[in-house]
Amino acid sequence: MYENFAKYYDKLMWDRSNYIVFIDRIIIQYNLNPKNILDIACWTWKILSKLNDNYTKYGVDLSENMLEIAKKNVVKWIFYKQDMRELHFDIMKFDFVTCLFDSINHLVDFSDWEKVFNKSYDLLNTNWIFLFDINTKTKLEKVSKYKPIMYEIGNDIIFFTTEDKWNWIVKWNIKFFENTNWNNFNLFHENIEENSFKIDKIKKSLNKFSKIIIVDENFNIANDNSDRIFFICIK
Ligand SMILES: C[S@@+](CC[C@H](N)C(=O)[O-])C[C@H]1O[C@@H](n2cnc3c(N)ncnc32)[C@H](O)[C@@H]1O
Repeated sequence: MYENFAKYYDKLMWDRSNYIVFIDRIIIQYNLNPKNILDIACWTWKILSKLNDNYTKYGVDLSENMLEIAKKNVVKWIFYKQDMRELHFDIMKFDFVTCLFDSINHLVDFSDWEKVFNKSYDLLNTNWIFLFDINTKTKLEKVSKYKPIMYEIGNDIIFFTTEDKWNWIVKWNIKFFENTNWNNFNLFHENIEENSFKIDKIKKSLNKFSKIIIVDENFNIANDNSDRIFFICIK
């Protein structure tokens, strides 16, 4: 997943400043001074690069190509190829663990979400924070009805369509037409699925955390009708 996408991802995505504002707001609100941060499903590098340099930064992602780009862009941070369901750090613990831009939605089974929650809990120092965001079913229903989207990047073309696989498990079908010369193209294909679950179910399985704050992008109280929800989980 995301192997063909990696080459284009940075060019298609915005810089994630909104996430940095969100993280900084938490840091100020709780008067925190984190020493390190682990970004799960870190993509190439953009969230970590925007955070101030007071922390030691670690990133994990499953896509080798994403990580290759990350390593080329930033040498001073540490990247690991790991599956978010099986995170493994020998003795290291973290002050902040993030999993952002609906990365957890890519896990279709709820039992896998629970694995990420438990691993993140274990990897956190006490009193510190696991922050993740999700697309809700409300949002996925909208996504499944998107019209086809086409992007031109240089001479390459990317074509996105979405469909509802079942019960708003959304399937993104992405076709990458890589221009080789003149009007010749290599075609690559990637399918990416996203699933979501109700707030109550998610909250129940986060019960190890001492406090959970659930808000929308504007820090207002969120509900299942919000599009994107943030879970701020304090160990
Ligand atoms: C929607 S992107 C989000 C990336 C990044 N957090 C951002 O803000 O753009 C999802 C990322 O999750 C990674 N990913 C998907 N499944 C994964 C898994 N099981 N373990 C680790 N990373 C995974 C993909 O490689 C991709 O980089």
